[in-house]
Amino acid sequence: MIKEDIPHVLEIERLSYSNPWQSSTFEGEVDNFPISNPYVIVFKPEKRVIGYIIYWRVREEVQISNIAIHPDYRRLGIAEAVMKKILKHLQAEDMKFVILEVRPSNLSAQELYRKLGFIPLGLQKKYYKNPEEDALLMGKTL
Ligand SMILES: CC(C)(COP(=O)(O)OP(=O)(O)OC[C@H]1O[C@@H](n2cnc3c(N)ncnc32)[C@H](O)[C@@H]1OP(=O)(O)O)[C@@H](O)C(=O)NCCC(=O)NCCS
Repeated sequence: MIKEDIPHVLEIERLSYSNPWQSSTFEGEVDNFPISNPYVIVFKPEKRVIGYIIYWRVREEVQISNIAIHPDYRRLGIAEAVMKKILKHLQAEDMKFVILEVRPSNLSAQELYRKLGFIPLGLQKKYYKNPEEDALLMGKTL
């Protein structure tokens, strides 16, 4: 992700979440490379940004902080393929754990993570706003 991608990323973010991140948050992620690793997913024929994934590396641990696919491109296996590729890359780099938070009501994302081998680790109380909800913490050993 580069700064020029952010308007396209914001459009997907707003279509994906009830409490979307602001532009400044994405700008911060881009500025925070290489601790933050923000990537866009581009549909090559149209050179269109159709999704993104952001993860942080802290020592041997990886935290996936955001992943979204444009609604027009969902259920095509894109998130699964991208995450598999990233998990393989992180494993090769000797990273040990990956964790992420997800709304308990977000069953489609949980299904994706379960399919990739993530297991539920616990709840973080009142983590999300608009609407308020706990976060389900999920993790995977690489
Ligand atoms: C979650 C999200 C990233 C999945 O992206 P995607 O590219 O559509 O997912 P994939 O097509 O790779 O799906 C892979 C698997 O995830 C699960 N899955 C994905 N969407 C699902 C849905 N709507 N219902 C049930 N399971 C779903 C399925 O197991 C699917 O495998 P299958 O198609 O063989 O059944 C996408 O729905 C999205 O952008 N949601 C809004 C943002 C969001 O919630 N992000 C996660 C925040 S924690």
